[in-house]
Amino acid sequence: MAQQIQVIDVTGWFVDDTHGIFPIGARDKQMLWSPETAIPGIKPNWPYLFKCSRTAYPDQFWMECIAYLLGNELGFDVPKALPARMTDAEGHVVCAALIEWFYNPKTQSFAHAADYFQNLIDDFDNDKGTKHNLTDLKTICQEFDSLIGIEQPWQHWLTQLLLFDTLIGNTDRHQENWGIIFNSGLSSKVLLSPLYDNGTSLGHERFPAKVANWPEPRLESYIQSGEHHLRLDNLNPDNRLNHLESIRMLLNESAENQAYIRQLMQTDFTALLAKLAYLCEIELEIPLSKQRFDWICRLLLCRQKLICELLTS
Ligand SMILES: Nc1ncnc2c1ncn2[C@@H]1O[C@H](COP(=O)(O)OP(=O)(O)OP(=O)(O)O)[C@@H](O)[C@H]1O
Ligand SMILES: [Mg+2]
Repeated sequence: MAQQIQVIDVTGWFVDDTHGIFPIGARDKQMLWSPETAIPGIKPNWPYLFKCSRTAYPDQFWMECIAYLLGNELGFDVPKALPARMTDAEGHVVCAALIEWFYNPKTQSFAHAADYFQNLIDDFDNDKGTKHNLTDLKTICQEFDSLIGIEQPWQHWLTQLLLFDTLIGNTDRHQENWGIIFNSGLSSKVLLSPLYDNGTSLGHERFPAKVANWPEPRLESYIQSGEHHLRLDNLNPDNRLNHLESIRMLLNESAENQAYIRQLMQTDFTALLAKLAYLCEIELEIPLSKQRFDWICRLLLCRQKLICELLTS
């Protein structure tokens, strides 16, 4: 297990000149630059996203941090996300996730997948993303791969995306929550983005006291109804790809997928989660409550069980 994470105080960090107040997305966030001085766990002089929770779910930023820790342990490419605080000019403390920038803005650029869906589909509605779909995602990846090359094998990247989002119950991997990273220099290959924006997951929208007594069948049906943002194709925009159905699909697709998913599901999730229990002890104005953590553990263990059942069915 990697070192235990700590709260980062970003008071006084430089706000980026052009992206100080971040225009994209649904919640308050700022692009900040870390100082030159060494701070454990922080890259010096590197951009970070200071991303607040939605008002209705004040502890949501913890989901970004937990998704990062889980992803990191399981070998998924998830940008580092740490709990953070900032004291504003009036002395109010704001808590948020501090998320490491996943590309170097001085030498690389980033385009949302939305740009390519808009090229491909004339009436693509970027607000709702109703035509954000798996078939066209594959076309976009194939085109990039054959025209310029993609640094990682895109099929495995896609398997990881679907598996990670199913594991954490992420319903929000829309066309602005993945994309393409370009290196400077026309001939260099592109990169598919890491799995960022993971806050709409881990049952964050449920209040722990209300779900603590859910019996197992209720929990299972909650998980079974979870869906990706992606549709299967653009012909049936109402038909979002069910989380567990996507795993069934991956298993039917290839022996490589089967081996990968089987190996990952052999992880001792109970032990892994026990090692994260210290998060509840971290002192912060908005702490991670034990009840919230227990709910997250229940969900993850149940998701693992349901995926394992698919492996043996
Ligand atoms: N770690 C990162 N490095 C670089 N850019 C990032 C990073 N995290 C987010 N971004 C950029 O900022 C945008 C908004 O961030 P993010 O998607 O996390 O916020 P959001 O408010 O939750 O959006 P949404 O409406 O999708 O829920 C992303 O679409 C992406 O372009
Ligand atoms: Mg987003």
